[in-house]
Amino acid sequence: MMNTQVRLKRRPVGPPSTDDFEVAAAPVPAAPDGGVLRKTIYLSLDPYMRGRMSDAPSYAAPVAVGGVMVGHTVSEVVESHHPDFRAGDVVAGYDGWQQYAASTGGDLRRLDPNATPITAALGVLGMPGLTAYVGLLDIGQPKPGETVVVSAASGAVGSVVGQLAKWKECRAVGIAGSADKCRYVVEELGFDGCVNYKTGDLAAALRAACPNGVDVYFDNVGGAVLAAVLRILNRGARIPLCGLISEYNATTSQAGPNLRPLLVSRAMIKGFIVSDHGDRAPAFLRDCAPLVASGRLKYREDIVDGLENAPSAFMRLFEGQNFGKLIVRVSDDPTRS
Ligand SMILES: NC(=O)c1ccc[n+]([C@@H]2O[C@H](COP(=O)([O-])OP(=O)(O)OC[C@H]3O[C@@H](n4cnc5c(N)ncnc54)[C@H](OP(=O)(O)O)[C@@H]3O)[C@@H](O)[C@H]2O)c1
Repeated sequence: MMNTQVRLKRRPVGPPSTDDFEVAAAPVPAAPDGGVLRKTIYLSLDPYMRGRMSDAPSYAAPVAVGGVMVGHTVSEVVESHHPDFRAGDVVAGYDGWQQYAASTGGDLRRLDPNATPITAALGVLGMPGLTAYVGLLDIGQPKPGETVVVSAASGAVGSVVGQLAKWKECRAVGIAGSADKCRYVVEELGFDGCVNYKTGDLAAALRAACPNGVDVYFDNVGGAVLAAVLRILNRGARIPLCGLISEYNATTSQAGPNLRPLLVSRAMIKGFIVSDHGDRAPAFLRDCAPLVASGRLKYREDIVDGLENAPSAFMRLFEGQNFGKLIVRVSDDPTRS
């Protein structure tokens, strides 16, 4: 039995391509003494992985050329010498783009497939959901009646931001890259409005969608969208700076937006990285797991079959072609028979 892996073949310059990856086989690792061997069922694909492919200075070390790509996973335990795990358990971990992984087990969290679908651990109840929770509630600090705007609104993080804003009794306005995504955000997720940034005059459309201005802007994209939102900030606005996906493939340093609106509106902008906020995970799961289980916090998944298709699927994130949390099904899901 072999362990299929997707490795980084070379560092991309500009947008990544399938040629930057190689699919290879390695021996299946052995479960260490007291440890756990598991088989990957689902692999999460996330924008931050673009940063790991580059050796530019960042908040985390890059993947080595020739190394297995990193990533969150949901797996089935196939062999355990650990008292907390048994064969057949489903666990969340960080096993990367490969079929099998082994460790001492301290990096694993057992999932209850009867509570919520196991894929939720990669999206709405996983890293992206925690990102939305920390960024919106701790940094954005939304108050009832305020207007919260979020970009990449139909995606893994943005979809949770807008719904949590509604949960906090705010007006939620999304920004997304297609009419279908905007319709989904309003009609399915219950946002109050959504602006397609790829058509027409973005600043005018935002002004119309936010007649009372913007109190919180949860920024997932940076660039021209950020510049447009800055023009309609209210006094004392807060901007959790979550991501800059419009710039991840840039080969030259981007000119920043004019910061005058931040001064005039006495606004605050704060960058954050979710891995610094693990202490908020218990509160996040306490608040959000029941909302997901009851159907009040909705989510959409974009599931691609086959580990060998992970490289081409990954690229869709940067073209706006994913619609919902992007996930690769690496092997059959034993909880969905
Ligand atoms: N700070 C943290 O700790 C942290 C943690 C997780 C995620 N993030 C960041 O949060 C953002 C969203 O991540 P996600 O996992 O939820 O991804 P996602 O929204 O599910 O997928 C990415 C989306 O970004 C949009 N996009 C792509 N290229 C763009 C461009 N050039 N300009 C504007 N929008 C573009 C596309 O949506 P449209 O079709 O709507 O354009 C695309 O579908 C990313 O920037 C990510 O890096 C940060």
